[in-house]
Amino acid sequence: MALPLSSTWKPLLGPRRSDAIKQIGLACEKNGFFAVKNHGIPEMKINNMLDTAREFFHLPDEERQSLKFHCHPVEEYKSHWPSNPPSFRENVGEYCESVRKVEVAILEAISESLDLERDYIDKILKGHYVSINYYPACQESELDVTHGVRTHTDPTLITILMQDDVPGLQVINDDKWINVNPIPNAVVVHVGDILQAISNYKYKSLLHQAIVNCEKERVSIASYCYPSDDAMIGPAKKLIDKVHPAIYKDFTYREFHESMWRVKCSTAKRLDLFKPSSD
Ligand code: OGA
Ligand code: NI
Repeated sequence: MALPLSSTWKPLLGPRRSDAIKQIGLACEKNGFFAVKNHGIPEMKINNMLDTAREFFHLPDEERQSLKFHCHPVEEYKSHWPSNPPSFRENVGEYCESVRKVEVAILEAISESLDLERDYIDKILKGHYVSINYYPACQESELDVTHGVRTHTDPTLITILMQDDVPGLQVINDDKWINVNPIPNAVVVHVGDILQAISNYKYKSLLHQAIVNCEKERVSIASYCYPSDDAMIGPAKKLIDKVHPAIYKDFTYREFHESMWRVKCSTAKRLDLFKPSSD
């Protein structure tokens, strides 16, 4: 399958905006993900981010498999981040600020693709947190450990994933796992559970996983966009009518988040709790 690919950034700023928005809407509806080239994050910031992530995980005694932290606004959180390697805060901070601009632009385009006001989703956007995923090359003795990240959907509005050049990400397409091979300097945008709810199930949260590579280590940077705690994240009223009844009730992000710990489910099925029939 060809990757649903949009050269999104530049067309979104010019007279082809409405075409780019249509492309994004179709990709969200049919595939639950798309790749974006020309997103405006300078190549140097991407390389610095990936190099810093690798350096961090190469530090002695570093056994963590992934590193998660809040990062918006950068200045508020930076002092809580690791200070080793010494370049960490600067390089991660610059990447996070750049990726934030992409998130806002993509969420505006997604709102418009649903025929909602441009800032409909941005209005409830709180911030993003970043997960730095590190997958060491697997040793032969560990050949059975093929999963870097097990099958899941992201509990987000959208996730922006930057991969290095080692393949590993897989998504479901027509009931089969397909590899989403890295495209240099492109980011992959995943539809998350919250967007599935807002769109009244028009856009489907992407089922995905990451497998490890036995020859090379792999690094990916996932930026998870999430709404503020009190934000109402039920289906947008404009998307509900007689033909399209609400699939979910209105609920807050706080309720969703709290329920996540209780239901212990790693896919969008955790949204079933918020279906009208589940009182
Ligand atoms: C994640 C994720 C995939 C990858 O962090 O949520 O799905 O390719 N990562 O690292
Ligand atoms: Ni994920």
